[in-house]
Amino acid sequence: MIVITLTYITKNIAKMKFFLDTANIEEIAEFANTGLLDGVTTNPSIIASYGKPFEEVIAAICKLVDGPVSAEVTATDHETMLKQGRHLAQIANNVVIKVPLTSDGLKACYALRQEEIDVNVTLCFSTGQALLAAKAGATFISPFIGRIDDIGYQGMNLIQEIAQIYSNYPDFNTQILAASIRSPLHVTEAAQMGADVATMPTKVLKQLFKHPLTDLGLEAFLKDWKNTDQKISA
Ligand code: G3P
Repeated sequence: MIVITLTYITKNIAKMKFFLDTANIEEIAEFANTGLLDGVTTNPSIIASYGKPFEEVIAAICKLVDGPVSAEVTATDHETMLKQGRHLAQIANNVVIKVPLTSDGLKACYALRQEEIDVNVTLCFSTGQALLAAKAGATFISPFIGRIDDIGYQGMNLIQEIAQIYSNYPDFNTQILAASIRSPLHVTEAAQMGADVATMPTKVLKQLFKHPLTDLGLEAFLKDWKNTDQKISA
């Protein structure tokens, strides 16, 4: 069981943002213009499973969604990461370059941020890594909750600890993007910890709507309404 202490608030942001963690255009289109979708994240595995050309997919997503769309570099040396990042950033104004949390990744992050290109530092599994990413000027840090849970630790503790650390330093502007989310509980707990963003598979976003009492209640309302023989003009 997770004990939640609401002592720390990351920063004064207007709302928690929801991103979809998918490259599936149809799924993204379903939630575009609903007020629920604030951005999209992808990674090389997601792109591979969707099976369509990377840059075309990113361009199509950017047309559907105004908010940040993460596109990940695949090089491991910072010079090539930088070249790939600059190239991908030209696809659209809302592309965010995703780099892994390695020494080269953070060098590329710092250089891209100097050029005012937004960066999402991914594959974060420790508070020390999150501290480094904030110092390198990352726009987003992506701690992977589910993958920490998978190896028997509490992924959510990492979100709480990063939120605490970042809140100590007002000059850190890095937003906490809770990633590797596997369930609605992950989303709500990340919100309780003060994560700025939760990125989730479409399945999890759909699960957030569901409650059996909502279904039962609606069924009863509609049955009672039918018995009145009334109609609402439309
Ligand atoms: O955003 C990172 C995410 O795609 C990783 O999720 O489920 O592969 O651990 P997962």
